[in-house]
Amino acid sequence: MQEILMLIFNKKSDLSAFLSPFINQNKSIGFVPTMGALHEGHLSLLKNSLSENDITVMSIFVNPTQFNNAEDLDKYPRTLERDVQIMLALSNSIIVYAPEVEDIYEGNTVSENFEYDGLENQMEGKHRPGHFDGVGTIVKRLFEIVQPNKAYFGEKDFQQLQIVKKLVSKYNIPVEVIGCPIHREPNGLAMSSRNERLSAIAKEKAAIIYQILSDAKKLFQTNSAEETILFVENEFKKHPEFQLEYFEIADEATLLPVSQKVSDKKYRGFIAIFIENIRLIDNISLN
Ligand code: PAF
Repeated sequence: MQEILMLIFNKKSDLSAFLSPFINQNKSIGFVPTMGALHEGHLSLLKNSLSENDITVMSIFVNPTQFNNAEDLDKYPRTLERDVQIMLALSNSIIVYAPEVEDIYEGNTVSENFEYDGLENQMEGKHRPGHFDGVGTIVKRLFEIVQPNKAYFGEKDFQQLQIVKKLVSKYNIPVEVIGCPIHREPNGLAMSSRNERLSAIAKEKAAIIYQILSDAKKLFQTNSAEETILFVENEFKKHPEFQLEYFEIADEATLLPVSQKVSDKKYRGFIAIFIENIRLIDNISLN
């Protein structure tokens, strides 16, 4: 067994005490918030942070207030020891903050209410009520504890990324929020901690999600949003092992569904889909 040389904090007070001399010396802090079960996507966020900052902090915390489904929270993979080994293989200079619920919520495990200029009312916001209040609550608290200069988020959760950008601008939080590209398995499946819960066969079958998104991207060049959405819905009807929750085409900035294509706007296709009762999300740039 490898000797663990990494600094792991469980208490925000200990982490703050450790970071405060560096903050006073104006050292730059990069921050990668996660819920653990690390994969290549997380590692790419860490690599960006390590190369752009003096100090890199990663949080590992399965945040209860952003789950609107108790079973999903219960079954969310928790693999701290393995995560630490994965990080150590990359660098032993990463500072880990892995708190218990009590350290974050101090006996009051509820979300604050946030308003993100309507971004919260689309897609994930519609289908996972309260989710973005939970995300806003934890991300704001983590930013207050870590006080990073830069924070790194994956584009797989594109709506979350836009919401976190809105959060820092509305609350004047001095953090640069950096979006990083989606990492995919060789078969195209977007990397996600939830993939751990898929059987080998479902992982193989889930390759079709990215194939259909890529076909939709081609179709959208010449066809309307409505026709492209219909195409995606019909494709998944051919694969009854999938239950499509939504496929939407939205403006990247406002996340509003596209009614009429405009040449200077950026569009993305967003999908949420179930296989083996596990909910996966993905998205693709359509420009
Ligand atoms: O994307 C995630 O893993 C979570 O939503 C985050 C940003 C760590 C907040 O709990």
